[in-house]
Amino acid sequence: MAASAPGKLILFGEHAVVFGEPALATAINLRAEVFARPHAEWRADGGSLDEPRYRYVRGAVQKAKAQGPLWLEVRSMVPSGAGLGSSAAVTVATLGALHGMVGAIDPATIAREAFEVEHEVQGRASPIDTSTASAGGSLLVLRKPSEGLLWTIERDSRRWCLHRTDLPPLDFVVGSTGISAATGPLVASVKERVDRDPKARDLVREIGRITLDGVQALRRRDFARAGQLMDRNHAILTELGVGHPMLDRLVAAARATSYGAKLTGAGGGGSMVALSERPEATAAAIRAAGGKAFIVRSDPVGVTTLG
Ligand code: MEV
Repeated sequence: MAASAPGKLILFGEHAVVFGEPALATAINLRAEVFARPHAEWRADGGSLDEPRYRYVRGAVQKAKAQGPLWLEVRSMVPSGAGLGSSAAVTVATLGALHGMVGAIDPATIAREAFEVEHEVQGRASPIDTSTASAGGSLLVLRKPSEGLLWTIERDSRRWCLHRTDLPPLDFVVGSTGISAATGPLVASVKERVDRDPKARDLVREIGRITLDGVQALRRRDFARAGQLMDRNHAILTELGVGHPMLDRLVAAARATSYGAKLTGAGGGGSMVALSERPEATAAAIRAAGGKAFIVRSDPVGVTTLG
């Protein structure tokens, strides 16, 4: 049995979504695939499941209460530590393969289990990455249920209502700094800042409003407005302490040929995304500034079994 799941790009709202604010993400056409076969002992790519890099795979095996032992093979096109949801894609694809061995897969169940795995392994988190990898396409996270509701996930006193949302077909240019940054400590640092500084709390709320304006702007194809909002979202994230000089450099390089650009995902390195009408020119500008650049599209397919 095998399953695959997509990586993701957060267009608006990362970090603020952990506090329950709105956020917008889209699945991208870079995917993780996981193959599972009965074997004499538990193995991941031939090695031990206890290796730290397989902690999400191991978490998924425990969460799914998988009957084993199994040999798992993990193949991922999603670069890790790059803010593109690689751990969520691997977790969701693993759960897809494990559930697929015993019956039909249900994206809502997988989204819930994957969020729990991410929370256990990474610490404080929102369900945006894991739900986008499960559902595919574009997802809007809101506090309250609205049109297009897919599922609701709760934890502590926070609630996230995940909605299907339609965006125009868009090319996004991703610029990777090559600096790998772990999400858990970055999320914890924003929480610490918000707990001690009311201004940081206001900035988190402003990101929520930017997300709602941004979704409307994208839907009515007002890319100039969407770009302005991305620029502001980037400035706020930097103020919240999750920027990096290399991110600023790539964002500045991309802006000359794009509507707007911002860091995407947890920040602290990782990647930025630009909304551009001339993606090739924007990618060239990012490369000239020292980043790795590639063009991605929204992927409508969420978790799916293969073969
Ligand atoms: C990471 O891709 C997105 C964050 O908002 C963390 C999370 O939502 O769990 C930074």
